[in-house]
Amino acid sequence: MYLPKLSIVVAFLLLTVVGVSKIVFQPPKQYRSQSSDTITIKETEVFGLLQTNCFTCHNPDLTVHKRLAPPMFKVREHYLEQDTTLDGFVKSITHFVAAPNDTIALMPGAIRNFGLMPKVNVSSNDVQVIAKYLHATDVASDEWYKRWETFKTKQ
Ligand code: HEC
Repeated sequence: MYLPKLSIVVAFLLLTVVGVSKIVFQPPKQYRSQSSDTITIKETEVFGLLQTNCFTCHNPDLTVHKRLAPPMFKVREHYLEQDTTLDGFVKSITHFVAAPNDTIALMPGAIRNFGLMPKVNVSSNDVQVIAKYLHATDVASDEWYKRWETFKTKQ
């Protein structure tokens, strides 16, 4: 019989088209993995916050000519030395940034070299995000610096 044969051919063609389009339109691998995606988005957001609010002074580029403040990894080191817990670390940083003063400061040498940090116009929520990120991230590593450079060149 002619008709059933034709419908088989049509069905086969349809399946092939659907199959091929599935392969062609499959999203690239990195967008499918949810966990790595979240991390990437978060770091990009924090990079933005750091760039706008902190890195003009705490420049991660160590070759910068006129340094206005110690690089952020130095700040991180001092605060981790005092308290390694997430809670303690975040509290000390947010406390200082909210109202910089030399009685709670942990870096007297930096105050001598650069003067006390001025009060920066940044929301306490943003400082919390920054502090949590700094607790979790080794901003002194080459690997981190590469990610930062990639972010910067895309700006
Ligand atoms: C206008 C320049 C400037 C900006 C912007 C700035 N800082 Fe600072 N910061 C300084 C200077 C200068 C010091 C070193 C002197 C001191 O310790 O007060 C410092 C020191 C610090 C310290 C250590 C203070 C201590 O002595 O214990 C922390 C923590 C800190 N900054 C966090 C931040 C964060 C987070 C941001 C961004 C939200 C930021 N700073 C933005 C200038 C700046």
